Parts: sequence; structure tokens; C-alpha cells
Amino acid sequence: MKLVKLIANLGYGSRKDVARMFREGRITDADGEVLYADDEVEHARVRVDGEPLDPPAGMVLLLNKPVGYTCSTRDPGRIVYDLLPPRFRLRSPLLSTVGRLDRDTSGALLLTDDGALLHRIVSPKAKLAKVYEATLASDLRGDEAAAFASGTLMLESEDTPLAPAGLEVLGPRHARLTLTEGRYHQVRRMFAAVGNHVETLHRPRIGGLPLADLAPGQWRLLDHRDLKVLFDADQRG
Ligand code: URA
Repeated sequence: MKLVKLIANLGYGSRKDVARMFREGRITDADGEVLYADDEVEHARVRVDGEPLDPPAGMVLLLNKPVGYTCSTRDPGRIVYDLLPPRFRLRSPLLSTVGRLDRDTSGALLLTDDGALLHRIVSPKAKLAKVYEATLASDLRGDEAAAFASGTLMLESEDTPLAPAGLEVLGPRHARLTLTEGRYHQVRRMFAAVGNHVETLHRPRIGGLPLADLAPGQWRLLDHRDLKVLFDADQRG
């Protein structure tokens, strides 16, 4: 791909803006040699104002989403893209969230511009475990684990039962729930179906990939090793 297109696709500006950056000599190779718009140079060797280019298409990142941010590009309030470099919103192909977390849910959120990978992660066939920790308004009754594991629990206004889900009781009003599907507001609706109410919800892990030491609002790029950990068969639900 011609450099001008590559750099514009990474969100540095329109092709016109990027053509101007070339004319201004701001785009160089790793040795400081000025590059031209129709050069074809290895991504890793290109510099803009002396800085390496953003990652190429095929980018995957893990964000620790704080409460109060929506997984949307249009919401007038705080959105998860506000936590990333502004250029990332202008990339082509688009950087999308892999599924969604509610505004009031915190935790592990993947974003990628790789459509095939996105589908692989969300596909029910992948059976990737999504692990949630919930604090509840009322004490657990004791029959929730059996109801969630049954494979027959039906959510209001749906006509297919939920796949079996695992519940671990962490305290009288504190539970860890492991799901392999991602229906709308699923965790909140599951607890509503057993007469409870979710007060706080956090996702510490997707598949084999934990948030580890990412603080709320922090993100990191994932590499091939991380993706292997994400899809680790032992961590499936
Ligand atoms: N289930 C919910 O209810 N909310 C989320 O954000 C994720 C799963």
C-alpha cells in the first residue's frame, strides 16, 4: 500500500492532510531520510515527526473500562474511545468494541479493527468464558447456582433458554458468574430472574486473559501470545 494511504488509514489525517505532511518533510524512515507519498516502505521503518507509526491494521487492545463510559461512538456522554489516543477513532478499518459492557459495568473490554477476529471471539462456538463479579442488593437465596447451571433459565421476553452458566458464591451478596454467551444486560437480567438486583458489576477476565495490573481507564496492545492466552482451551466456560 502507498504510504499516503497507509498513514491516512491510521487516522493521521485525510489523504490531503497526509500529502501535506509529506511535502513538509515530516515523514521519514528510521534513518531520518525524507519519504515520499507513493513510496512503499515497511511499516516499522516509517516515522512521523520522528515517532514510530501507530500499530498497523490487525490491532487488538485490552481496556479496563471504568464505570460511566459507554461502548458507543455516538453517545453524547463519556465513551470508551475517550480513553484512547484520538487518532484511534479515525482509523480505517474501524476500531470496534468486541461486544459491549453497560455504562455502569467496569472491567475487561477488547477492541479490534480485525473483523474476523472479532467474530471469532464473540462466536458462541468459541465458548469464551466471560467472567463477572457482581455485588447484589439482597442476600443470595442458595438456589441461584442450580438455576444458572440448568440450561433452562429463560430471560423475560426471550424464547430460547440461557446456556448453562457457572456461579461461585464469594459472600452473602457477592458472586462470580461465568458466561459463554453475551445477551443484552445478561448478568443483570439473570439476577433479576432469581429475585435479586445487581448493584455493581465488574468483568475481571475474558477467556484466559485477565486484566491483571491494568488500572481503570488503562489499556494495552495485545500480541500473539496474549491472543493465545485469550483462546486458551482450559479457560473456556
Ligand atoms: N451483563 C450485564 O448485565 N451487563 C454487562 O455490562 C455485561 C453483562
